[in-house]
Amino acid sequence: MKTRIIDASDKDGLDQAAQLIKAGDLVVFPTETVYGLGADAFNVEAVKKIFIAKGRPGDNPLIIHLAKSEDIYDLAADLPQKARQLMDAFWPGPLTMVLKKAPCVPDEVTSGLDTVALRVPDHPIAKAFIERAGCPIAAPSANRSGRPSPTETKHVLEDLDGRVAAIITASDAEIGLESTVIDMTCEPPVVLRPGDVTLAELRRVLGQVDLSPATMEETTIEKAISPGMKYSHYSPQGQLIVVKGSPAEIKDKIRRALRQAKKSPMKYGVLSRDETMANYQEGIIISLGSQDNPREMAKNLYSRLRTFDELGVEVIYAEDIPMDNTTLALINRLYKAAAYTFL
Ligand code: TXA
Ligand code: MG
Repeated sequence: MKTRIIDASDKDGLDQAAQLIKAGDLVVFPTETVYGLGADAFNVEAVKKIFIAKGRPGDNPLIIHLAKSEDIYDLAADLPQKARQLMDAFWPGPLTMVLKKAPCVPDEVTSGLDTVALRVPDHPIAKAFIERAGCPIAAPSANRSGRPSPTETKHVLEDLDGRVAAIITASDAEIGLESTVIDMTCEPPVVLRPGDVTLAELRRVLGQVDLSPATMEETTIEKAISPGMKYSHYSPQGQLIVVKGSPAEIKDKIRRALRQAKKSPMKYGVLSRDETMANYQEGIIISLGSQDNPREMAKNLYSRLRTFDELGVEVIYAEDIPMDNTTLALINRLYKAAAYTFL
């Protein structure tokens, strides 16, 4: 398939992209979190194409993207008061709510669950594209399954060129990690995937909100509430190892590992912070950003992991990141990318 590349600033291009959606084709579009791989959520054949293009397991349901908050009434069977409060506080934005689904939502989107995940993206091009398409858009992140989510046009091309009808190009994603997913069908609500909307922000609006334990530990299939939890995720091709300890211990462990590595033919790398880069003299050293700026680090994570791949790095030591409300999502993705491998 020849993939059409559409410049986001091209109004005719957005109309063409909308036509492709109406015709049952796949279109990649930018959002504030990561790029999405979209299809008409009501077109079952189009939705099936998403799973094929991504190589995604069929039991991992999709998020439906809406142009405006009011559209939620068509897709959710009921809207608890607390869901309304979150809509008012965080939509449009990087928050996905899981709600009881309306009968019109196809099983192919929800992988047979009786709930549906909904989000209104806060990105002018995403909004214009969904409006023009005239239907809700089912869209996972626009990466091949298991790869880091795409935050730049070139990542989408690496993964999906030739596998989708069109790609709408835009500037790099502002947030760089996928949306917060919160299950609103239980009381108290449970965060299934941390994201840019933090637990503290959610609790300020709702009071008690729980964090699914599966977000911070290796999840068995039995424990996975959100089907996406059980799959290996976001991984670079090289082996990623998170190095834990005090700052001094982390530095020592990585320096020792790099010294050992000199004897090996493999290519080694370090994912450091701006402040710690100078600690390492061997291997390929890449900074995630400043440790004083968690949002910068979050924005950079996936693109840095892909850079290690481009450079053919086979073993990557990542410095652990101190946990607090603002780093939870970043740590969740880093640990998953490392498949919970620690040194
Ligand atoms: O920021 C984002 O959310 C991006 C952009 C494109 O919007 N999308 C995204 O989609 O990250 P995806 O498919 O990569 O992740 C969706 C997550 C998966 O972990 C999936 O299991 C979960 O949401 N999910 C979807 N529907 C669900 C449901 N009904 N119940 C529980 N979890 C659900
Ligand atoms: Mg994804």
